[in-house]
Amino acid sequence: MIKMDRKLYLSCPHVTGNEIKYVTEAIESNWVAPLGPYVNKFEEDLRTEIKDGGYVVALNSGTGAIDIALDLIGVQSGDIIFCSSFTFIGSANPILYKKAVPVFIDADPETWCICEKSLEKALIKYEKIGKRPKALICVDLFGNSPNYNKIQEICTKYDVKIIEDSAEALGSSFNGKACGTFGDYGIFSFNGNKIITTSGGGALVTKTKELAQRAQFLITQARDNAPYYEHSVMGYNYRMSNICAAIGVAQLETLRNKIELKKAIHERYQEAFKGSDRYKMLNVSAGTDSNYWLSCLTIKNVSFEKTVALVKALNESNIEARQVWKPMHLQPLFKDADYICDQEDVCSKLFESSICLPSACDMTLEEQITVINNIKGFIES
Ligand SMILES: Cc1ncc(COP(=O)(O)O)c(C=O)c1O
Repeated sequence: MIKMDRKLYLSCPHVTGNEIKYVTEAIESNWVAPLGPYVNKFEEDLRTEIKDGGYVVALNSGTGAIDIALDLIGVQSGDIIFCSSFTFIGSANPILYKKAVPVFIDADPETWCICEKSLEKALIKYEKIGKRPKALICVDLFGNSPNYNKIQEICTKYDVKIIEDSAEALGSSFNGKACGTFGDYGIFSFNGNKIITTSGGGALVTKTKELAQRAQFLITQARDNAPYYEHSVMGYNYRMSNICAAIGVAQLETLRNKIELKKAIHERYQEAFKGSDRYKMLNVSAGTDSNYWLSCLTIKNVSFEKTVALVKALNESNIEARQVWKPMHLQPLFKDADYICDQEDVCSKLFESSICLPSACDMTLEEQITVINNIKGFIES
């Protein structure tokens, strides 16, 4: 393998705009606090980005946003929560914070998002035993989205609230409607590896202003409207800082440009790996306009050990690559959780055979060609 002169990342912060200007402004105006004009502006700008598809509350993480969505739904200890199995742990940990019971659902082999058939199968199973889930955490994986017409139809039939985990899909849309707005609640993440970052942060999307206000209240320690510190319910310290929001405002201004860059990277990988029955890229699902956050490749007819060895060799060559998310139902943490799949366990197979490819906005064409040649050389030798 050819070793790169510099480290190539899967997805790293891409700072090209007004970040320094806005952060300086925030500091000079002494708004160095977990609230301030940039937090308000970031929320407004996000609202514009999702085309007024809901009310937006900025938080210090996407995980916290899911936690608050579960609160707003009224999830309590012992409640059943369905969740996509094929995801990052941040989707599922909030279920444990609430002492609720996770049930994991398999993925669709084409979209890698939740499998509709498995979801219905799970709902029928739990309906039979009189344990209807309080919510479904439905993940828009790697910038892709499931068919929300179907997901909404199924969840309406069984009266299950949807939390759309769009941590990885800011800027994506399904049938022209922004991802993050399909659920009763939506969430975004602005962790350093996401398409835009606030150095760490998240957002919650609610359907009403009242719910957004309730979320604001909960994430600022649930302080009652009294002339002194009084608290009637348990709250959280989940607010985003004005400094982080200043970065976010600048990053959001360049979101479309980042999507264009990532789309070009994705198309080059598509072109390079097409026409061979050894490789299959994760395609954009029908009806979805993806943000192309991470390009992912399935390598067919190779052992799990070989994909692990490939990732190791790439990393040793200064090329960051990783196995795709290890499904939640395979995690030791969730060894006792129920898992529902339709005919066969799709996401476990994808985990064994698929990797995330370097997709950082600043990767050059020459660098990408080296990545592709390294992969082909390793697999085909
Ligand atoms: C699918 C998914 N859900 C939730 C999260 C959690 O977001 P955060 O890291 O902002 O807490 C992430 C990423 O970090 C994610 O990729």
